Amino acid sequence: MTMDAPPRVMSGASGRPLTLREHEVTFGTATVGAALVGELEASGLMGRGGAGFATSKKVELLRHQRGHHKVVVVNAMEGEPVGHKDRTLLSANPHLVLDGAQCVANLIGARRVAVCVSRKDSAIVNHVQRALHERERRGTGPEFILDTPPWRYVAGEESALVHWLNDNETMPQYRPQRPNVLHVGRSPALVVNAETCAHVGLINRFGALWFRELGTPSSPGSTLVSVTGAVHRPTVLEVALGTPLRSILRAAGADPDPLALLTGGYGGAWLSGEHLDVAYCNEDLRSLGATVGAGILVVVPKGACGLAETHRVVQWMANESSRQCGPCAFGLPALAEDLRTLLHDARDPHGVLVRLKERCDVIQGRGACRHPDGVVRLVDSALRVFAGHIDEHVNGFPCAALTTTRRWVTVPALEHESDLVWE
Ligand SMILES: Cc1cc2nc3c(=O)[nH]c(=O)nc-3n(C[C@H](O)[C@H](O)[C@H](O)COP(=O)(O)O)c2cc1C
Ligand code: SF4
Repeated sequence: MTMDAPPRVMSGASGRPLTLREHEVTFGTATVGAALVGELEASGLMGRGGAGFATSKKVELLRHQRGHHKVVVVNAMEGEPVGHKDRTLLSANPHLVLDGAQCVANLIGARRVAVCVSRKDSAIVNHVQRALHERERRGTGPEFILDTPPWRYVAGEESALVHWLNDNETMPQYRPQRPNVLHVGRSPALVVNAETCAHVGLINRFGALWFRELGTPSSPGSTLVSVTGAVHRPTVLEVALGTPLRSILRAAGADPDPLALLTGGYGGAWLSGEHLDVAYCNEDLRSLGATVGAGILVVVPKGACGLAETHRVVQWMANESSRQCGPCAFGLPALAEDLRTLLHDARDPHGVLVRLKERCDVIQGRGACRHPDGVVRLVDSALRVFAGHIDEHVNGFPCAALTTTRRWVTVPALEHESDLVWE
C-alpha cells in the first residue's frame, strides 16, 4: 500500500512474487550503467537497515579494497516481531532486490552475493530460491547463494551475519574501529539491507533526479514502514520520506490519538502522541529524539502504560543479546529488573530511578555491537516521553493501565513470558 505518490519498490505488488518476466515488464530490463557510482552518490540514498548510513559511502569504501573475491551480503534477516518490511518486499518484488544486489556487486567488483534470510521465514526462503532459479537460466552476473541463518535478533547485525557465513555462528564480532571492512574468508564483504538493494535497483534504472522527486533534500526517496500496535491490522506502507506521521497513521488505519509511537524498532525511541505533525524523516524525528531506524512504527494507545511497554521491550532485548559482553550479559537484565521494580515494587522508587539512569550511562557505547546502545536509547526516550507517567509510579500511584490492561502492543508474544507476568 502506498500513499499519494505512486509505489516504487512495491510497484506491481500483487499478493505473490513477480516472476522475472513480470518484473521486467513492470520495471524494464536492467543493465548496470557505468554512471551508477555518481548516480548513487547524487541520489543521497541512506541504508534502510537501521543505521541510516549513506549507501554510496559504504560502496566507495569497498570499491577501494583489493581483491577479486569481494562479497555482497543482502541482509533480509528482519529480526523484530514488529518489523515486516523486508519480508513484504521479498514477497512482492524479489527480483528488484536481486537486481540491486547485482548492481552493488558490479560497483565494488564482487563476484559473489549471499542473500541471507532467516530459516524461520520459510515462505520468503522459497520466494528467493525460486527467483534465483529463474535468474540462473540467464547465466550472467555474479554467483548468488541463498543462506538461511537460524533466527535470532542479533543475527541481523552485520558482523554477526558475516560470522555466520564464516563459521556458522550468529554472534556479533568485536570491531575496534568503525567504519571498518568485514571479511568473508579473506574476501572483503559489504552488508546491505534488502530494501536498500531494491532502491539501488531503481536508481540504476531511473537515476538520482528521479529518486529525489520524493522525500526531502536530506532524506530523499520513498521508504517502507511497518505499522503495528493499535492499528486495524498490521500493515506495511511505502511512503515518501517527510510524510507527516499523522498521514501515515491514517493510511494504516491506526488509532489517530495514541499515547505514543515506538519509532525505529526495539532499538529505536519513543515519540509522544502529541507530535503527529512531525515529518517521517531522520532530520525531523531526531530533533525529538526519535528515529526512522528499521522502518517500524508501533502505535501505543492511550489506555496503555508506556513504562510497562518499555519494560517488555527491554526484557525481550535482554533475552535476545548474545551475552558475550558485560553490558548485555549484566547491564540489560539489570535495566529490565529496574523497570520491573519501578512498575511493581514501590519501596524505593526514587532510588531505582537514579540507578536506572546510572546504568544507562555505564552501558552506553560499551558493547561489541550496537545492541545495548539501542536499548539505552529506548530507555532514555521512555524516561523523557513518559516522565509524567513515571512520576505517578514513583509517587506510589501506578497508572490505571497497569491494573486494567492486559493487551500488549510492543512485544506481542514472548518465549520468556514468565519473566514478564503482571503482578
Ligand atoms: C542488534 C542489531 C540487529 C540488526 N538487525 C538487522 C536486520 O535484521 N536487518 C538489517 O538489514 N540490518 C540489521 N541491523 C543493521 C546492520 O548491522 C547493518 O547496519 C545493515 O544491514 C546495513 O544495511 P544498510 O546500510 O543497507 O542499512 C542490525 C543491527 C544491530 C545492532
Ligand atoms: S554487545 Fe551484546 S549483542 Fe553485541 S556482541 Fe556484545 S553481547 Fe552480543
